[in-house]
Amino acid sequence: MPRAIQVTAFGGPENLQLVDIPVGDPGPGEILIRHQACGLNYIDVYQRTGLYPGALPLTLGMEGAGVVEAVGEGVKHLSAGDRAAYASNPPGSYSEARVMPAKCVVRLPDAIDFDTAAAMMLKGLTAQYLLKKCRPVEGLEPGDFVLFHAAAGGVGLIACQWAKALGLRLIGTAGSAAKCELALAHGATHAIDYSREDFVGRVKDITGGKGVKVVYDSVGKDTFEKSLDCLRPFGLMASFGNASGPVPPFAPGALGPKGSLYLTRQTLFTHIATREATQAMADELFAVVESGAVKIRIDQRYALADVAQAHRDLEARKTTGSTVLIP
Ligand SMILES: NC(=O)c1ccc[n+]([C@@H]2O[C@H](COP(=O)([O-])OP(=O)(O)OC[C@H]3O[C@@H](n4cnc5c(N)ncnc54)[C@H](OP(=O)(O)O)[C@@H]3O)[C@@H](O)[C@H]2O)c1
Repeated sequence: MPRAIQVTAFGGPENLQLVDIPVGDPGPGEILIRHQACGLNYIDVYQRTGLYPGALPLTLGMEGAGVVEAVGEGVKHLSAGDRAAYASNPPGSYSEARVMPAKCVVRLPDAIDFDTAAAMMLKGLTAQYLLKKCRPVEGLEPGDFVLFHAAAGGVGLIACQWAKALGLRLIGTAGSAAKCELALAHGATHAIDYSREDFVGRVKDITGGKGVKVVYDSVGKDTFEKSLDCLRPFGLMASFGNASGPVPPFAPGALGPKGSLYLTRQTLFTHIATREATQAMADELFAVVESGAVKIRIDQRYALADVAQAHRDLEARKTTGSTVLIP
C-alpha cells in the first residue's frame, strides 16, 4: 500500500503521521499518479492547523509531480506513462501515489525535471495570476512599482524574476539582510528588511512619495494595515495569504481617505477552476522556466517522512525559495 502523510486532528507538526492508505482505480475524470516529488506550501500549514479546515482524516499537500499510472473514463489529455505535474484542490500530494481529478494535472515538458515541477506548480501559477491578472484599474506598465511581501520565499522568488521579465519595478520585503540580498539577486529592484526597517517610509522614499500601484500581501495580520499606506490613489491591495495570521475584520470605509483604494482577496483555485485555464496558465509558466527568465530555486529538500521538520522550518521562517518533499 502507498504511504502518505495524514492528520487526524488539527494542530502542530507533531500531528503529521506517516500512514498506509489504499489507492483505488481512477473513476471518470480522474487519474492515478505516482509521485516523484511533492511541493511544500504555506497553505499546508493552514490546513494542518485547521485555519483552513478540511474533513479529517486529511492527507495534506497541494502540489506534486510524477508519472501517470492509469486514467479514468473521459480523460483525454493524459495517458498512462506520461510525466505530469499539478497544483490542486483537493489536497493529497503528500503521498507516494494518489487518485485525483485530471483537470488540474498537466503534462510536463521533457526539459523540466520532477523536483523542479513539484517546486513550481502552485507557487509559479500563483506568481503568474498575481502579476498578470490581479492588476490595478489603472493597469501595470513597465517601470511601475509594485510591493511584494516575503519576496525571498517560494512564491516570492518566482515573482521577483517574473516581475523583472515584465519590466516591473518590484520592491520586495523580507525578514533578514540575507533574504533581501536573495530577492535583489532574483530581480527585485529594491529590498526592505521589514524586521528592522519601516517599510512604509522606505516605499515612500523609493517611489518619490507617490506609493506603489499594487501591494501583493501574503503575510496578512502583521503587514495588512501598513500595506494600505504604501498604495498610491486607486491602488490595489491584493491580499493572498496569512503567514503571520489572518487579517482581522476590516471596515471598508478606511479605503476612501487612503485614496479610493481597491481591496481583493485572491486564491489560485479560482484561477485554475477549469482544465483550459489551468493548461493556459501552465503553458505560460513552462515558457518562462524553459526560457530561463524564471529559475526555480529549491533551497530545501526533505524525505516525505521528515515532513514535520519541513513544517517547523517553514513556520520558523528558516526556508528560502521552494522546498520539495521526496516520497
Ligand atoms: N492565495 C493564493 O492563491 C496563494 C497561493 C500560494 C501561496 N499563497 C500564500 O503566499 C505566501 C507564500 O507562500 P509560500 O508557500 O511560498 O511560503 P514562503 O513565502 O516560502 O514562506 C512564508 C514566508 O512568510 C514570511 N513571514 C512573515 N511573517 C511570518 C510569520 N509570522 N510566520 C511565518 N512566516 C512569516 C517569511 O518570510 P520573511 O522571513 O522574509 O518574512 C516566510 O519565509 C503564503 O502566505 C501562502 O499562503 C497564497
